[in-house]
Amino acid sequence: MSRVVDDNSASSSPTLLPYFGSSHYHNMDLESNNNNNNSGGSGGGGRRVSFSPTLGQLLKRVGDARREGTGDETPVHHTLAMSPETRALPFVLRFSNLTYNVKVTKKMQIPGVNSHIATPGEHHPVGNNGVFSRTKTLLNDISGEARDGEIMAVLGASGSGKSTLIDALANRIARGSLKGKITLNGEPLESRLLKVISAYVMQDDLLFPMLTVEETLMFSAEFRLPRTLSKSKKEARVQQLIDQLGLRNAAKTIIGDEGHRGVSGGERRRVSIGLDIIHDPIILFLDEPTSGLDSTSAFMVVKVLQRIAQSGSIVMMSIHQPSYRIMGLLDRLIFLSKGQTVFSGSPSDLPGYFDEFGKSIPENENKTEYALDLIRELEGAPGGAKALVEFHKGWQMKKRSVFPNIEGAPQDSRGGLSLKEAISASISRGKLVSGATNADASPASMVPTFANPFWNEIVTLSKRSVMNSRRTPELFGIRLGAVLVTGFILATIFWQLDNSPKGVQERLGFFAFAMSTTFYTCADALPVFLQERYIFMRETAYNAYRRSSYVLSHALTALPSLIFLSFAFAATTFWAVGLDGGVSGFFFYFGIIFASFWAGNSFVSFLSGVVPHVMLGYVIVVAILAYFLLFSGFFINRDRIPNYWIWFHYMSLVKYPYEGVLQNEFQDPTKCFIRGVQIFDNTPLGAVPNAMKVRLLQTISGSLGMTITPSTCVTTGADILQQQGVTDLTKWGCLWVTVAWGFFFRILFYFSLLLGSKNKRR
Ligand SMILES: Nc1ncnc2c1ncn2[C@@H]1O[C@H](COP(=O)(O)OP(=O)(O)OP(=O)(O)O)[C@@H](O)[C@H]1O
Ligand SMILES: [Mg+2]
Repeated sequence: MSRVVDDNSASSSPTLLPYFGSSHYHNMDLESNNNNNNSGGSGGGGRRVSFSPTLGQLLKRVGDARREGTGDETPVHHTLAMSPETRALPFVLRFSNLTYNVKVTKKMQIPGVNSHIATPGEHHPVGNNGVFSRTKTLLNDISGEARDGEIMAVLGASGSGKSTLIDALANRIARGSLKGKITLNGEPLESRLLKVISAYVMQDDLLFPMLTVEETLMFSAEFRLPRTLSKSKKEARVQQLIDQLGLRNAAKTIIGDEGHRGVSGGERRRVSIGLDIIHDPIILFLDEPTSGLDSTSAFMVVKVLQRIAQSGSIVMMSIHQPSYRIMGLLDRLIFLSKGQTVFSGSPSDLPGYFDEFGKSIPENENKTEYALDLIRELEGAPGGAKALVEFHKGWQMKKRSVFPNIEGAPQDSRGGLSLKEAISASISRGKLVSGATNADASPASMVPTFANPFWNEIVTLSKRSVMNSRRTPELFGIRLGAVLVTGFILATIFWQLDNSPKGVQERLGFFAFAMSTTFYTCADALPVFLQERYIFMRETAYNAYRRSSYVLSHALTALPSLIFLSFAFAATTFWAVGLDGGVSGFFFYFGIIFASFWAGNSFVSFLSGVVPHVMLGYVIVVAILAYFLLFSGFFINRDRIPNYWIWFHYMSLVKYPYEGVLQNEFQDPTKCFIRGVQIFDNTPLGAVPNAMKVRLLQTISGSLGMTITPSTCVTTGADILQQQGVTDLTKWGCLWVTVAWGFFFRILFYFSLLLGSKNKRR
């Protein structure tokens, strides 16, 4: 439906209403979900612009609606015709000559065997090194414009470039690669501004499975709505959104996943949309919001989008095969074929267009389906859809000369506001609720980059994370179980070790194993982190919160469970194995286990930021931890490690806690580990009778010129530390270095998120 029709119909009822404060105010309502009377669509000019309220109004209204609440979950239907003057908040997103090429390199094929027919979008310059360097044109000179109040839909066969076009407009293609111009109200769109005034709804739903619909939306509200908005207002916004999205029945249901039954696919889709529109963005991009939904759910989703558009937003989406009813909700269409425009205009133009082209659409056919089939047919023909592309160009020219004000006219002919004015006006109407300030000069600085201060984000993120872990106690249960089982096995195997030379060997083995176990136990957090990573990317792509606050809250929320796990492990093993040091020894032992957990957790977090795949992640974690253990100093002492590997010894995360606990164990100077005849243990002479050993000892004493009786202490704890090469750090030094490694990996984690989550095509 074109704008002209809207404006005409609206101006036929010249009601002039102020935005706020009118007695009609609470009547500015949403259309009810099942209201069809004004979705006439392509039929004619009967559809009036129903004024959908923006947040400021809605917040107030929600209260009224709730009071009216009679169990009917959809708000009462009121439509309000607005004159173009009051309604006009013109946002015009114009894109011209968008062209996007990618290079595809291919091995040269044998001439003659290559049966590939070049399509119009492909050029094949052959490099002299025998490698095809092919340029594939994904978008070819695409122009168009989208306005607030309207839904613009991109249609086309699979692979025609719909997602690419949406990506291009949503600034998800790197600057240098995309040619052409994108302007908003005539001004070039800065990426920083676009980030705050727009939202992009991905094709797949990335949501936390254990949160309910209401909680999911509430967290989004806390991230994206400013702190200045009170909690009750945020709640009101969420409730209003739940109604708007038709999610009332599912509000208290968890999202669910493969393992937990949750909301339906269509409801999920709507929740995903809800997350991104919570702050009432001015521009909304959606990639196939209706795929995978049955026709009723799909219609509901588009209906919601229509309301959003009518509240003064530009909605731009790609859609596969819209049903007849959905077509009635779309205002502008762009049909693509292999990256080229083959039609653009309103749905009502479609029959006339194809009539002129010489392929009339039969009366009883679904117009879009027919058009898509026709385009596909043309693509299969030798000339491709070239004829239609050319025809479209001519048709556009003709249209422009007949109705100069439809397209291509400068926006100021519509009572034009500059971008800055338009944004201000929108904000004062309650749009873009991310806490905007009007005073500033440039549009980009009018809206703050983040809605909330740093500490607020940390609190919200931590709250969400705690809620998630409390809903999945089995995850923590498994980790605790793993720690307790390992602790129990170690405790029984190394039960009450004595201070003999054998006992010393066993102690060393126990420590090496125990210290590396703590790291292995951390690896199970990898899949959880990876799953979260995609949600994080979605949320930070449009500035829901800072990356730094995510990293900090991620660390903070990990700590309590780590403390608990370390205590459980320390308590099961310390006394059972018979470790030294009493209570203070225990606390150091606990401390260093905690430090290892912390370092291991940070290390795994960092890996999850770098490695995108669970299996790959596991392989890397397990391999690296094995190397850490190998180089820790247990299997081979530091002085025996080849020089060119010594750096790995210092990088080994296991080295520090291992040396720390050894020092904790062997620090007592009065304690003796090898006494008198025990020096023959672990040697071939260990098997000779005791009396013989005593005589041997006397002989040795004589030769050395010193008295060594069976009770003389030959090796103290300090000697053992010396033999193990544990000399370069004190036990507290070891503890602090381990803790520092944890911080170090957290910082790397931050950088991996900063660099690795650009979410853009090249
Ligand atoms: N990096 C790339 N290199 C080569 N070709 C690419 C690349 N990225 C995308 N394409 C191609 O670009 C074309 C357009 O892709 P796009 O995802 O935009 O299609 P689409 O219209 O959204 O399809 P669908 O309806 O299946 O989602 C496809 O043929 C795709 O194979
Ligand atoms: Mg796509």
